[in-house]
Amino acid sequence: MKKMAVLASGSGSNLQALIDRVHEKEGMIAVVISNKKNAYALKRAKKADIPAIYADRSQVATDEAYDTDILKILHAYAVDVIVLAGYLRILTPVLTEAYANRIINIHPSLIPSFCGDGYYGMHVHQAVYDRGVKITGATVHFVDSGVDTGPIIMQRAVCLTGNEQPEEIAAKVLEIEHELLVESVTLVLNDQIEIVQKRTIRK
Ligand code: GAR
Repeated sequence: MKKMAVLASGSGSNLQALIDRVHEKEGMIAVVISNKKNAYALKRAKKADIPAIYADRSQVATDEAYDTDILKILHAYAVDVIVLAGYLRILTPVLTEAYANRIINIHPSLIPSFCGDGYYGMHVHQAVYDRGVKITGATVHFVDSGVDTGPIIMQRAVCLTGNEQPEEIAAKVLEIEHELLVESVTLVLNDQIEIVQKRTIRK
């Protein structure tokens, strides 16, 4: 079975979906790492008897040094695949090169809309609300050296009436994220996704 590391900064509901439906079935979650000391994601990991590590960015001088520390943890746990599940930091080449085509991210919009620098968490849903789009959704993609620019694995849409507040948009999108992430991670762990230039195809 392949080994995963899940990186998360917040509540970790996507991590929970992976614990419930992928862990010990399609692959093993070997370690959960957070850049936030009080991230609920760390508690979810501990409850599931998965090693949970807080990596403190303020202890090192640069983002590269921080990612080098994370890389050491990944190697210590013999991690094959990294899943970013609400991890609100941008990875440096230290990680994107060491794990090229082996890092999966979930983003709460239909890429290429509402993505890139500054678009994370509630900022995405606020922008969706401000623009008044009637379809939003979620995207799971491989991570490359850009921000939200890697090959797309799966997307799913959510229809909006226009009456939802940003918090309601976030809740509607989160509801479909869990399913989408579980399906995408399962495909990758089972080697069913091939990257052809900037696209992915199902084997
Ligand atoms: C999710 O909506 C995820 O798509 C988003 O953070 C939330 C984490 O929720 N990620 C990003 O915005 C990455 N750019 P969770 O902690 O409950 O899984």
